[in-house]
Order: sequence, then C-alpha cells, then structure tokens
Amino acid sequence: MPETRIEIPAEALERLKTAGSLAVLTGAGVSAESGLPTFRGKDGLWKNHRPEQLATPQAFSADPKLVWDWYHWRRGIVRNASPNPAHLALVEMEKRIENFTLITQNVDGLHRRAGSREVLEIHGNLCEARCSVCPASAPLEEEEGIVTCEACGAFMRPAVVWFGESLDTALLEKAYVRAGGSDMFIVAGTSGMVQPAASLSYAALRGGGYVLEVNLDPTPLTGEANATILGKAGDILPELVRRVWTGGMQSA
Ligand code: OAD
Repeated sequence: MPETRIEIPAEALERLKTAGSLAVLTGAGVSAESGLPTFRGKDGLWKNHRPEQLATPQAFSADPKLVWDWYHWRRGIVRNASPNPAHLALVEMEKRIENFTLITQNVDGLHRRAGSREVLEIHGNLCEARCSVCPASAPLEEEEGIVTCEACGAFMRPAVVWFGESLDTALLEKAYVRAGGSDMFIVAGTSGMVQPAASLSYAALRGGGYVLEVNLDPTPLTGEANATILGKAGDILPELVRRVWTGGMQSA
C-alpha cells in the first residue's frame, strides 16, 4: 500500500529552513511511540490511580511507598524503552540550527539519551531522587520501595515537579526567554493542559515566532498556533527534517 504523504504547510518548511533560532516544547506524546504511557490518555492509569492523584506532595505524605512504587514502575518502563524517531529528529534539528533549545515536560530522560544536548527538563527527571529534608540528591537505578537519604536518613522523593509545586525559577525563566525569542517554536505531543508549560507557546506567539503544533489530536493551542499538523510525532518530526534538509525542499 502506498504511504500517505504528510501534508506540511509550505510556510512551516520555509520558516524551519531559515530559522536562526528554534525552540521546541515536548510532552508525553513524543515518548508514546517509545511505549511510554501518556498522562491523560486511556493508558495513563496505574492500578486505578490517576497520575494527578499520585504526583502531588499530599499523596507522598499520605503514602510514600505508593508514590515511590509508581515512580519505580515508570522508571522500569523507561529503562527498557529506547528513543523513537521523534526524539532522533530533534537531535538532527539541533545539529542544523544555531540556537536550539529543547524544553521538555517529560521526566523520562529520552531526549538526552537520544543525543539532544540543550535540554531544559522543566518537570525534572525520574531517574533522580532528592532528599525531602536536606540538599542531598542521588541517581536512581534498581531501587525499590521508599528511598532514604544516605546523608540524613530522611525520606527521599523523586526529583520531579508535582502538582501544586513551583518549577525551578531559573530554568523556567530560561525557557520563557528562549520561547519568546525564537524564530520558530515547535510544540509536539502535549495536551497543553498543564501550566506554566502551556503558556510557553503563547510567549512564542507574542514574541513573533512561528508556532507549529504537532499532535495526534487538536488541543487548546490548535487555532492559536500558526499551523497544526495532526499525526504521530514519530512520523511528522522526521518528515520535517527530510523535507527541509536531508531529502530536498518540497512544498505541500
Ligand atoms: P498528556 O498526556 O496530557 O498529553 C499527551 C498529548 O500527546 C495529547 O495531546 C495526545 O493527543 C498527544 N499524543 C499522544 N501520542 C502522540 C503521538 N504519537 N504523537 C503526537 N502526539 C501524541 O501529556 P503532557 O501534555 O506531556 O506533569 O502532560 C503535561 C504534564 O502533565 C506532564 O509533564 C505531567 C503531567 O501531569 C507533571 O508530572 C508535573
């Protein structure tokens, strides 16, 4: 069967080709094709718990083992997963665009494993723990159950941002500056339901950048963005690289 050609607006290709600065915001949809469950999809549930009920300081205080078990489970999936063509396409873009910033809400570390270098993990990383009392932090590998701090003995917690918590101020500031100052901003695989990450796209629009959304389904950003391409990030992002750089320039 012939492959369906992905429709990409000619302006998006031209903007990408000429962009001196590109910022990209990714969400769980970019890791979906690596086999990682998204948060709000039907596969996002874990033992009948919604992520929103587990990723909170209150859930951790009430039942630290439950929360740690969820993160150990997620880390296990991540360990056995590999970066997919969407991650790899972003590595290719970074090689070709002088000022490149990848802002991710994903805590799976797959962008770095793929080879991306300028990555702002604004929601943290689930392969690290930090002490809930002292400044200690530690990488995580095969741990099980509640992780305790070697320095002070207190409970450690996953080094991720939970609902109701603030993001790292310096990191967020950098993300806003890069988004607002970019010639082009690609938003891939995020529902745009979580702030402040969702507002980065609007900072890019206000800054005059060309905002291109890539998602399986329409989101609140669709209609606000300059263009939306509906489909899999693992198909569309590599196609952008092919059409702009490696396979010659063609318009849709
Ligand atoms: P969501 O689960 O809310 O949204 C995933 C998005 O990816 C949806 O819009 C899907 O349509 C889209 N999608 C799924 N598969 C795709 C694919 N193969 N290609 C393209 N798009 C696809 O995940 P996020 O938006 O990342 O925060 O969620 C944001 C934050 O909410 C997460 O970082 C996490 C969560 O609670 C914290 O834990 C702080």
